Amino acid sequence: MIQCPRGTRDFLPDELEKRRSYEGILRGVAHRFGFREIETPIFEDAELFILRSGPGVLKELYNFKDKGDRDIALRPEMTAPVIRAFVNGMGSYPKPIKVFYFGQCFRYERPQAGRYREFFQFGAEIIGSATPETDAEAIAMAASMIKSLGLKEYKIRIGHIGVLRQRIADIGVPAERTAEVLQKLDKKLYDEARPILRDIGVADADAEALFDLTETVGGTEVLDKVPGEAGTYLRELVGILGSMGVEDLEIDLGVVRGLDYYTGMVFEAEAPVLGAEKQICGGGSYTLSELFGGEKVFSTGFAIGFDRILLAMEKEGIEYEQEGIDAYVIPVSDDVRRDAAVIVSRLRGSGRSADIDIMGRKMAKALKYADSIRARYAVIVGRKELDGGCVTLRDMKTGEQREVPADDIFRGV
Ligand code: HAM
Repeated sequence: MIQCPRGTRDFLPDELEKRRSYEGILRGVAHRFGFREIETPIFEDAELFILRSGPGVLKELYNFKDKGDRDIALRPEMTAPVIRAFVNGMGSYPKPIKVFYFGQCFRYERPQAGRYREFFQFGAEIIGSATPETDAEAIAMAASMIKSLGLKEYKIRIGHIGVLRQRIADIGVPAERTAEVLQKLDKKLYDEARPILRDIGVADADAEALFDLTETVGGTEVLDKVPGEAGTYLRELVGILGSMGVEDLEIDLGVVRGLDYYTGMVFEAEAPVLGAEKQICGGGSYTLSELFGGEKVFSTGFAIGFDRILLAMEKEGIEYEQEGIDAYVIPVSDDVRRDAAVIVSRLRGSGRSADIDIMGRKMAKALKYADSIRARYAVIVGRKELDGGCVTLRDMKTGEQREVPADDIFRGV
C-alpha cells in the first residue's frame, strides 16, 4: 500500500472541517486588524531562502533541480516570498502594507509530534514601518489570534536581537561568525558557545557577561536591565501593548529565533502542553527587501504554526463540534424517487444543506447513514403522505417525527 510521504499528512473530512473552521477564525482576526491576504507560489528559486534564512533553514530546505536546470526550493516559510512579492510588485503601494497568509511550508526535518515536513503557517507582515507601534500591532494580533482559538495556557516572550547582536560585535566577534554564536545562544548551549568564543579570541569574562545578558528574563521590571536604546524601545513597546490590552508578557533577551533576518524586536509564543515542540508562534522585525533588489524597508511579522496550535488546543481538551447537514432525504419506495429529488433540490435552492439517499437503502440503514453524516433531520418521503402534500420530518437527535408540508419542510422548525 502506498502511504503519504514521511512527515506529511492527509486531512480527512472531519479533520479538515475543523481546520477550516479555525483557519476562518484566524482570518477574521486578521481582517479585524486591517490585514489583507496575499498568496505566493509554493516553490521559489532556492536562492531566495539561501540568501538570508540562516543555517537552520538551509539544511532543512527541500530543494531540487527542475527540468530547466533551475535550483528550486519548496518554501520553508513565507516571509522571504512575501518580501520578494513586495519588491516585485508592491513597491509603490501606500505604506504600511499589511498582509496575511495561510499555507503550507516544507522543511526536511526529523518528523515527530508537532514537527512535520509539510506544515501550515498562518502569518502576517507589516511592510514599511519601523515604529514600536508597528511591533505592537504584530504582537497584539498574534496574541489576539491565540486567544480567539481558545487556547488557555501560553506564554509570549519578547526580546531584542539588536541587543545581542550589538554585544556580540562589541566583544569582538566578526560579522561572519555572528550567526554561529547566535545559534548556540538560541539553544542556550553555553558549553558549546564557550570554545567558539575562545577560538575567536573573546575574553572569558566577556563571554560569561554575554550569557548573563541572554538570561535576562522576567516581567517588565527586567526592562531596566536592558541596555541602551533597545531598553527604551522595549519599554515603549510594552506600554503600547498595555494600552491595547495585551498583558502578561515576558521579557526574555534569550529569544534569538532560528532565522537570520531579524534586526530588532523578536518574539515567540509557546504552549507548555506541547513539551519539546512547544513553540506555536514566532516573529519579529527585520529587513530583507534590499537583499532581493529593492530598497531597504523595515518590516515586522510573525507566523503561527497552525498544526502546533491545533495540537495544543486538542491537548487542552478544546472540542470541535462537527457541522453536519440540515437534512437527509429518504425516499421510502422507488415510485417516490423523483419526488424526493425535487424535494432535495428545493431544500438546496433555499440555502439548506441537504443530501439524499442514492443507494436505495431500506429505512433503518438509511437512518443509520443519516446519523453518520450528522444530519439534523431526516426527510422521509412516502407515497401516502405525499398524496396529502406532506412528508415526514424526523428529528435525528430525539427521534421525534411529524408530518410537514412537502413544499415548506422547515416552516416553524
Ligand atoms: P519560524 O519560527 O521558523 O518563523 O516558524 C513559525 C512557526 O511555524 C513556529 O513557531 C512553529 O510553530 C511552526 N513550525 C516551524 N517548523 C515547523 C514544523 N516542521 N512542523 C510544524 N510546525 C512548524 C518563521 O517561519 C518566520 N517566517 C516568522 C516570521 C514572519 N517572522 C517575521 N515574519
